[in-house]
Amino acid sequence: MKGLQGQPSASDDRAPAKPGPGRKLALSATIGPGPKLCQHGLALVNHGDCLDVMRRMPADFVDLIVTSPPYADARAHTYGGIRPDEYVPWFVERAVEMHRVLKPTGSFVLNIKEKAVDGERHTYVLELILALKREVGFRWVEEYIWHKTTSAPGKWKYRFRDAWERLLHFSKSDDVKMNQQDVRVPVGDWTRTRLRNMSANDRVRRESGTRSQVGRRISAWTDRKLVYPSNVLHRPPVCHNTGHSAAFPEWMPEFFIRLFTDQGDVVLDPFLGSGTTFRVAQALGRHAVGIDLDRDCLDRFLATIEDEFVTGEPLSAANIH
Ligand SMILES: C[S@@+](CC[C@H](N)C(=O)[O-])C[C@H]1O[C@@H](n2cnc3c(N)ncnc32)[C@H](O)[C@@H]1O
Repeated sequence: MKGLQGQPSASDDRAPAKPGPGRKLALSATIGPGPKLCQHGLALVNHGDCLDVMRRMPADFVDLIVTSPPYADARAHTYGGIRPDEYVPWFVERAVEMHRVLKPTGSFVLNIKEKAVDGERHTYVLELILALKREVGFRWVEEYIWHKTTSAPGKWKYRFRDAWERLLHFSKSDDVKMNQQDVRVPVGDWTRTRLRNMSANDRVRRESGTRSQVGRRISAWTDRKLVYPSNVLHRPPVCHNTGHSAAFPEWMPEFFIRLFTDQGDVVLDPFLGSGTTFRVAQALGRHAVGIDLDRDCLDRFLATIEDEFVTGEPLSAANIH
């Protein structure tokens, strides 16, 4: 199997889980610590403020949250903006629930980028990172940068074109589930020329001249086809979704779902939008849970997927058995 975006994937040998008839609401979980899913899949789409919906979810239930929330004040005409000055308390209230529903080994990946206000970058994303850590209790594990390789050219009075976004990785504990081997990337063409004529020095481990204690042996790259990626992800902003003004590309949830979950794990997007995270999670054999405030948006999403696999019943203690 190729990656969803056609990229070769190190975990291609993993077949997606087959949807079963019980997928409608076949969640067999115990409320409280250690919820257990039965063999059938789960696909739940909920309408409402994710704050209210998550409050009805059990604690320690979700393996991964991948989401792009409404950005401050952005696209107010589409789904209501939150003023940049009010953004942190608004988000923190919801993040408390995200933290509660996340399993101790789980991860939370937040795609966000601050806007510029009055000719300077607003600081709400920086303040949000601090608040998620200090007020909510998340650990800030990493910041991945999405470098948009084909962003449109442009120039503003004080800035050049904005060609990157943040992908913030938070966790609940220091015991994070992480399948690093599943997101390896092709080693690249540089090895063809670099490894063709190796010197004797290339065949022994040599310490860095900067005394950083980082050493390397060039010949170790011979025959390596896949390597671990860096925390800068160079990808185009191509989306295959339609009907949503802020959909993110499929490779993004795919990368993090492969990295932070196994088949049968639960993936939540509390700001579902066009359902990119949801669809990718399902395609990779994970259980998908999505929430969106906008009824029209949800209806458009539901129309694009196989109804028999999805239930719109509210997720609550009553229907989790
Ligand atoms: C940036 S979009 C998400 C796009 C999504 N990542 C995709 O690929 O399509 C944010 C979504 O959050 C929804 N939303 C805004 N406030 C919400 C809230 N309080 N609870 C749930 N959904 C909300 C909006 O309706 C919108 O569809």
